[in-house]
Amino acid sequence: MILVLHGANLNRLGTRQPEIYGAQTLADLENQISEWATALDLRVQCQQTNLEGVLLEAVQLAAEQGFEAIIINPGAWTHYSYALRDAIAGQPLPVLEVHLSNIHAREEFRHTSVIAPVCAGSIVGLGAQGYRLALEYLNTKLTKLEYSDPPNRNAPRMA
Ligand code: DQA
Repeated sequence: MILVLHGANLNRLGTRQPEIYGAQTLADLENQISEWATALDLRVQCQQTNLEGVLLEAVQLAAEQGFEAIIINPGAWTHYSYALRDAIAGQPLPVLEVHLSNIHAREEFRHTSVIAPVCAGSIVGLGAQGYRLALEYLNTKLTKLEYSDPPNRNAPRMA
């Protein structure tokens, strides 16, 4: 089972800046993610919150709740939540970061992801397709039970 987490303001998809994030609602997106997962014989549980502490606890508890991996789009917390980074670093599951928009092509404050260094990988700018690619990656990884190559997210990190 894969945990798909959405953070701040992503409940507003569909009406929020559709020129950037598209016309799809969060419910549409989650349905699509579930369909893609089913096609790969994976199961997903989707959760969205506007409360940072709720997101932190979801990350903290995911492994003991039996999840095998996390796909996360934290919204703006991506850019400044060291607490989220610490929560990801402090748990054992592979975490994939996904952003609908290309954060590197937008305002400067979005160019930094403080969670990227502690995630297994990041997919940005490909819209909903990013989640499909993340699922496909995890399908390969979970089937083969290879979490550590490449990158080795347990390797010592740079400061
Ligand atoms: C986002 C990009 C973030 O910068 C922004 O704050 C969001 C959405 C994305 O999916 O493109 O809320 O994570």
